[in-house]
Amino acid sequence: MVNSKIIVYSSNTGFTEQYAKLLSRALDMPSYKLGSVPDCHRGAEVIYLGWLFAGMIVGYKKCAKKYSVVCAVGVGMSPPSAELAEGLRATMSIPESVPVFYLQGGFDIAKLKGPMKLIMKFKCREIAGRLNAKPELSEAEQLTLDMCHGPASAVSEASLAEIIALYR
Ligand SMILES: Cc1cc2nc3c(=O)[nH]c(=O)nc-3n(C[C@H](O)[C@H](O)[C@H](O)COP(=O)(O)O)c2cc1C
Repeated sequence: MVNSKIIVYSSNTGFTEQYAKLLSRALDMPSYKLGSVPDCHRGAEVIYLGWLFAGMIVGYKKCAKKYSVVCAVGVGMSPPSAELAEGLRATMSIPESVPVFYLQGGFDIAKLKGPMKLIMKFKCREIAGRLNAKPELSEAEQLTLDMCHGPASAVSEASLAEIIALYR
């Protein structure tokens, strides 16, 4: 085994990959796309980052079957909240011993194709309607609204601070 801890990720349009690369640099840990992890890492402990699809962390179950996932991170377009992370734990049946984080990623509808693009066109309309009805928006809510209107991203190393502190 080359490294005892590695980062594995699944990314559809690149925002989760950006987080994985930032984390990889900050923790000096190699990062690999799920499905492209070299065999020498068999048995490694994994910090897993996956993009959110309908409330699920894409690839988590597949990764947890093969590796010992010691931290699970979901990346979505919603504003972050502690309830969201706990909701992901319940939905994905992540054991209590594994810390779960939610990070606000980014969204660019132009990078989607076919049914996903169509679904998200309607979803964005619904989300924007809900946020526009609020008298005031937090910075994260404003970013989600921006994502509904065009490409926008919340990806930053600062958002990874808690995870970096846990594994540094
Ligand atoms: C089909 C589809 C479903 C999505 N479902 C969710 C969701 O349930 N919750 C959420 O916060 N974001 C959701 N998103 C937004 C993505 O998770 C978000 O844009 C993420 O940052 C994309 O990461 P990626 O660029 O690594 O693929 C969805 C996006 C698509 C295309």
